[in-house]
Amino acid sequence: MIQPPRKHLARLPTPLEPLDRLSADLQEHGIETRIWIKRDDLTDTIASGNKIRKLEFSIGQALAEEANVLVTWGGVQSNHCRATAQLAARLGLKSHLILRGNEPDEYDGNLLIDRLVGANVTFAPLPEYQQMDDTYAELQTRYANQGLRTYRIPVGASDEIGLWGYIACAEELKSDFESLELKPDAIVSATGSGGTLAGLILGNHLYKVDTTIYAFNVCDDEAYFLKKISEDFTAWRSRYDIEVNSADIPINVIEGYVGPGYGSANPEVFDTIHRVARLEGIVLDPVYTGKAFHGMLTELDQGRFQGMKDIVFVHTGGMLGLFPQKHELFATSDQVS
Ligand SMILES: Cc1ncc(COP(=O)(O)O)c(C=O)c1O
Repeated sequence: MIQPPRKHLARLPTPLEPLDRLSADLQEHGIETRIWIKRDDLTDTIASGNKIRKLEFSIGQALAEEANVLVTWGGVQSNHCRATAQLAARLGLKSHLILRGNEPDEYDGNLLIDRLVGANVTFAPLPEYQQMDDTYAELQTRYANQGLRTYRIPVGASDEIGLWGYIACAEELKSDFESLELKPDAIVSATGSGGTLAGLILGNHLYKVDTTIYAFNVCDDEAYFLKKISEDFTAWRSRYDIEVNSADIPINVIEGYVGPGYGSANPEVFDTIHRVARLEGIVLDPVYTGKAFHGMLTELDQGRFQGMKDIVFVHTGGMLGLFPQKHELFATSDQVS
């Protein structure tokens, strides 16, 4: 197998822990499943979350190509853009972020950190945001005139390079499971740009983790992710010359939990965020992990995961996304009985 360049940046391994109080609470409601959490919200402090695992490989490739400006895209509150900017600062590189939308009046959450760590930011409302090739070509020329070399990281670092981050996480999970003598029935996460899910699926297969990977989409729909992830698999196989049979890598996306839209959550998601925070002291976010966790609890209740003894939820971070939604957080019930 061709080994991709990697720059070790995350604090690994992250803990895998049982959520005992939540599982006891579920038991009181007739659900016998034990929930575990893989604490990928602890991969670092500010750059925490799933992005840093993927960026280890994207930045590894950028350094191999002697780039010194990381260029990437995302929403105004993008965790991925913020992690890229922070890691660029940590490595003495420049970052340039193209953020979807207009400049807000107030800098909060991820955007505040982007500014703090010195990212160059371009605000680009739709449809301008979608002109990625043109924007990148312009930036490439602009930085080349200053004697600098750019490297383009796709949205969410979700491509055949970034997905190595979660292939490596699957290997880590295998060793967690061995040391805990755990045989989980499922691993669950959120999917936004597809890379985390794609990596977990491939890693589950390559390292014979022997479980089923499910993801709840927080934007788009199942059809979109099946296409995106299949394309990433094809690019990965061809770039690294690896033989994997598609039938051995099923893609399980559970839809129905996007709510009002990407970045915006129903009151039930905020209720789940309150419940987990109060029972376990763990903070989920309304854009990714709160929606996926809420989806997992709802599906447990409705029977899709019936009979499963142990489920591992991958906490992919995103806490900074909670702060710009503090009014919505306390607009819902914040009482857990
Ligand atoms: C906190 C958080 N969780 C989950 C995801 C989803 O991961 P992916 O983009 O790899 O699908 C993202 C980013 O999209 C994220 O920022």
